[in-house]
Amino acid sequence: HQARLTLDPAFKVAPVRRRTFGTFVEHLGRCVYTGIYEPGHPTADEDGFRRDVLDLTRELGVSTVRYPGGNFVSGYRWEDGIGPVDRRPRRLDLAWHSTETNEVGVDEFVRWCRKAGVEPMMAVNLGTRGIAEALDLLEYANHPSGTTLSDLRIANGAKEPHGIRMWCLGNEMDGPWQTGHKTAREYGRLAAETARAMRMVDPKLELVACGSSGSSMPTFGSWEAEVLEETYDLVDYISCHAYYEEKDGDLGSFLASSTDMEYFISSVVATADHVGARLKSRKRIDISFDEWNVWYLSRFHDTGAPQDWPVAPPLLEDHYNLADAVTFGGLLITLLRNSDRVTAASLAQLVNVIAPIMTEPGGRAWRQTTFHPFAQASRHAAGDVLRVEPDSPAYETKAYGEVPLLHAVATHSATEGTTLFAVNRSADEPLSLEIDARALGGVRIVEATTLTDPDVYARNTADDPTRITPRANPDVEAGPLRVLVPPVSWNVIRLA
Ligand code: AHR
Repeated sequence: HQARLTLDPAFKVAPVRRRTFGTFVEHLGRCVYTGIYEPGHPTADEDGFRRDVLDLTRELGVSTVRYPGGNFVSGYRWEDGIGPVDRRPRRLDLAWHSTETNEVGVDEFVRWCRKAGVEPMMAVNLGTRGIAEALDLLEYANHPSGTTLSDLRIANGAKEPHGIRMWCLGNEMDGPWQTGHKTAREYGRLAAETARAMRMVDPKLELVACGSSGSSMPTFGSWEAEVLEETYDLVDYISCHAYYEEKDGDLGSFLASSTDMEYFISSVVATADHVGARLKSRKRIDISFDEWNVWYLSRFHDTGAPQDWPVAPPLLEDHYNLADAVTFGGLLITLLRNSDRVTAASLAQLVNVIAPIMTEPGGRAWRQTTFHPFAQASRHAAGDVLRVEPDSPAYETKAYGEVPLLHAVATHSATEGTTLFAVNRSADEPLSLEIDARALGGVRIVEATTLTDPDVYARNTADDPTRITPRANPDVEAGPLRVLVPPVSWNVIRLA
């Protein structure tokens, strides 16, 4: 197969948004406990944070981290997680049928964020709680001093305000599984009044209204419209959540999952703009794609949450293979391609729970296959996102009809060069990719790596952590620029 594409710095989509490289830490399974936090671990620092996980988080190139949920937040009392640890209550976590010990709360999380060099993004509980508790948390976290709540934060050891700028107004309130699930009107009104009050404290906050939990939700489209009718002037973002998995051995459709994500984004943009037009508003609502990943949700539904309220049980611990990483890379490409409207995103999640980083309690930490597309994109995406329109052969999929084999995006920076990110969705054929880079003026390929394996179901494990890792692509030609892209592969091609 042959494919070609043109790189031209004139075809700018938008600046690369650092917040595209956000992730998510939820009180769920082993994400917090034995994930980021494990006081007895050999690498634990003075605060009980695992240094091995901190190092991998930095290597992953994470920008923001959403916290503390997820479904968990809809039953969470934030004040359970502050003050002396031995006096914190233990609570039932209805979302994951677990016991929450509250050893980690907002102060510990922000301390961890500072160590990891990431921006915290906080969600408030609009399931079982409302405006007053959201305001209390905001005052506790961000007010400098001189009030009971801000002085309590200082007494708890955090002298400086946490300065949290991005706030999610609840989580997946369209989902019947959500504690305190609401209709679009009920949620829209509550989100609007919570946002209005939070802005009275600080008008510069960036606020995210809940959109749909997936494009197949029965209320998809009408949910966004009704919520935005209530909140348009008060929020900055509407959220999107999407998870994909290989179903019934249909690898071709799975590798094309970004087709659904593309449809999801364009539908939400159209809906938001339609509401804006009806309100005669010049304001533009952006998308916070604050949960996205490959997730074998059907396996979770088969096994379900535990029944006996354990503490930090292993939950949602998907072990990703090469096909998962290539599909994941395709999703990342789609997020980047839409950087004009998707200006924030959070990979769900960071560690152990559907995560790029895995740990053993008390033991090793390693990179899953999906670690690599994220880390490489975060490291090399710089400057502006360029529109690339590949001329590629297509293949037939059950789920999406005809889909191009090549999916790609590029970024360009005057100082850091140009990088092309591309996946080949073909299950068995390499693609000979010709790159027309004449508009960049005499550039050459300085590095070409590929993430691939003869076995698309091969994984990384604690014993074999580098089986799937980016390797130099030997099949590169200089004139014309050409790269042979293996079947089922994620590729990074750097030009300078
Ligand atoms: O990321 C796992 C779960 O997926 C989150 O808690 C929830 O928001 C979504 O349904």
